Amino acid sequence: MKPKIISIANQKGGVGKTTTAINLGAALAMRGERVLLIDLDPQGNASTGLGVSKETRHQSTYDLILGESAPSDIAQQTDVENLWIVPATMDLSSADTELMSSARRVMHLRNALRLRDTPYSYILIDCPPSLNLLTINAFVASDTILVPLQAEFFALEGLSQLLLTVREVRTTANSDLRVEGVVLTMFDRRNNLCLQVEEDARENLGDLVFQTKIPRNVRLSEAPSYAMPVLNYDPTSRGAIAYRSLAAELLQRNNVKQVSHV
Ligand SMILES: Nc1ncnc2c1ncn2[C@@H]1O[C@H](COP(=O)(O)OP(=O)(O)O)[C@@H](O)[C@H]1O
Ligand SMILES: [Mg+2]
Repeated sequence: MKPKIISIANQKGGVGKTTTAINLGAALAMRGERVLLIDLDPQGNASTGLGVSKETRHQSTYDLILGESAPSDIAQQTDVENLWIVPATMDLSSADTELMSSARRVMHLRNALRLRDTPYSYILIDCPPSLNLLTINAFVASDTILVPLQAEFFALEGLSQLLLTVREVRTTANSDLRVEGVVLTMFDRRNNLCLQVEEDARENLGDLVFQTKIPRNVRLSEAPSYAMPVLNYDPTSRGAIAYRSLAAELLQRNNVKQVSHV
């Protein structure tokens, strides 16, 4: 099957990319999708959060991008049924510079993922907190970008910069690239700034903003240290409910093919 490839990206760190990759991935898997998560951040937080110990990361995203390995050769099954991960190791931090010397430097990940027949229906890419060559590789390889947006003061400015990069990639290397949507993260409805950012985001971006908001929820930050998604760690927590709802909304949007153009 031809998977849908979604980059989870925001050049700002600490906005909920990895948390979204892990928990949206798990929620999609629990709905029967076959999900591959690619950890594209040298920090490897998604790999750790899903229980892949450093000792077992024999092959990693580095090999996918700079080697000949196919995703299904490297992918490790997680404890969540239907969820696999290509783990990241620190050597991914040198991949950015190594790619510089390659003529087709932005195409590496796309070429590695462009397989006719994969066992996956969704591939989620957990991007690093930067707009470097790794992230560009993810955008060139993807069908869509999903942006976690933390409701704080400069959030929308960072978003404009991100959307400029998306447009640039669209005119150069991947004309089919679309924005899947923007999801508000660490949302606190008692905080006026959060409400203001939500209002601005909906006014500027309309339907591109998911109805689902991810609340600030301590269970979401605890789950990775137990090496599991919050959906397993505490299935009835507000965080788990929110990510299940995000998965349902994403699947519903994809069914009606409502992916917007920005
Ligand atoms: N909705 C949330 N509620 C509470 N803590 C969260 C939430 N989302 C993320 N966190 C915590 O915030 C920190 C940054 O999140 P993370 O997903 O790693 O961001 P990024 O990948 O964008 O750097 C982590 O410690 C994570 O556990
Ligand atoms: Mg991260």
